[in-house]
Amino acid sequence: MSTSDKEEPSSSSSVTFRLTLGRFAEGPGCSSSGMLPASSDDAILVVLCLFVPWWDRGSYKQRTSNTSVTIGGQEYPVDSWTNVTPAIVEKIPMQLYLKPHHPLGIMRSLIESSFSGFSCLNVPSPVVSTHQNFDELGFPPDHPGRSVTDTYYINKETVLRTHASAHEIEIFKQGHDMWLLTADVYRRDEIDSSHSPVFHQMDGAQHFATDEASMDALQEENERLGKQLASSNIIIVDNTKVGPTNPYQEGHQPKHAELVVGNMKHSLNRMIYNLFSTRRDGNSEPLRVRWIEAYFPFTSPSYEVEAFFQGKWLEILGCGVMKQRTLDFSGLPDRIGWAFGLGLERLAMVLFSIPDIRLFWSNDPRFLSQFTPGEITTFKPYSKYPPCYKDVSFWVPKHKIVHDNDFCDVVRDVARNLVEDVKKIDEFVHPKTEQTSVCFRINYRSMDRSLSNEEVNKIQAQVSNALVERFQVELR
Ligand code: DAH
Repeated sequence: MSTSDKEEPSSSSSVTFRLTLGRFAEGPGCSSSGMLPASSDDAILVVLCLFVPWWDRGSYKQRTSNTSVTIGGQEYPVDSWTNVTPAIVEKIPMQLYLKPHHPLGIMRSLIESSFSGFSCLNVPSPVVSTHQNFDELGFPPDHPGRSVTDTYYINKETVLRTHASAHEIEIFKQGHDMWLLTADVYRRDEIDSSHSPVFHQMDGAQHFATDEASMDALQEENERLGKQLASSNIIIVDNTKVGPTNPYQEGHQPKHAELVVGNMKHSLNRMIYNLFSTRRDGNSEPLRVRWIEAYFPFTSPSYEVEAFFQGKWLEILGCGVMKQRTLDFSGLPDRIGWAFGLGLERLAMVLFSIPDIRLFWSNDPRFLSQFTPGEITTFKPYSKYPPCYKDVSFWVPKHKIVHDNDFCDVVRDVARNLVEDVKKIDEFVHPKTEQTSVCFRINYRSMDRSLSNEEVNKIQAQVSNALVERFQVELR
């Protein structure tokens, strides 16, 4: 547990801030039978009731103590687990994946266009229970993903979803049997050009009846898809085996599971082929895709899929035959199905040649004007503004730990999008006092303008003050 969970509230002035979220909708071109009713309104309000104004840059535990966090019109009590920060909550309304000219919106539409007949969904509120996010999907109680250093907790039982899979059961219960879900997901992380605490995932799933006629129909469909792929310019390397380390599930007839795996592989190979054909740079070489055995708590057998692009194997997605408990919990004990999940930013960064994950959040017309719906084009970098490096060194009191992710959330909360990366450059324990000395180097750089040294010094001083207040560290 991080130090943030031990602090006591101390302030009592109050402020509320409101952010308006955009409409929620299905993706264009989808045959959706309905949207997920995450809110009764067209717009969702995010209201954070804080006891200290967020611009005071105090600890977020202080800022939220004795009160509640309201997201999407819903109020959530805070407790000692609360570690969600204003810098994170203000990203919730953005819904970048709904913007047709945005690389994430383009990726979403392109992927959706490979799955005809699938419902294309989104759930605008990222607030889920720990039960939905972890327990229902079979995450063991000691899974590292549950820790407060990895996950944004609103309170002990409520988190910002760490993956789109958190909604699988809810979607099945609503009656969708073949669907894609695009969602913003939240994971505490360090700050660098390829990591963002808010990113986007697409999950998809399909389930089938297991009677003989349905399985025969699936076999025929698989043959049709297989023929289509055989005549496409793609080489699929698949040496995966089903066995003790990656088994079919007890209770599944191996023949049925095999057909479901076959359908999943064809559907996903076709999607990857379509996606990469959109950006092949006139390359007539076949696309190479390889399948690897994997492990996820909620599928078995499980796989990862990679594609060879610009001289490297790029991890595309994770997938597998859904654990039967997922379908049982969804009230579908007689069905069998597959699911997959992928991260949109990582794929988009490679396909569009976007060098920094912060660019996805940029409002700079030099970024936004470069993209066209339905097309994957190479991003043309424009000149970067100069970096400004500042170091901060401090003593951490004995028996306390300042996790890198805790440090980064403080930096993010103060400096918002003005930090390009953060590196720990030194750490040692004093042999006598047993205090730990830590030094972080913060690289300040705006995407949109030049930062003056004076401005950065002010921000750096705020970061330092926030660190002292939040972790009781002693600046060096
Ligand atoms: N939820 C997984 C993640 O965040 C991705 C994933 C893997 C989703 C396999 C799935 C799946 O639906 O079947 O890493």
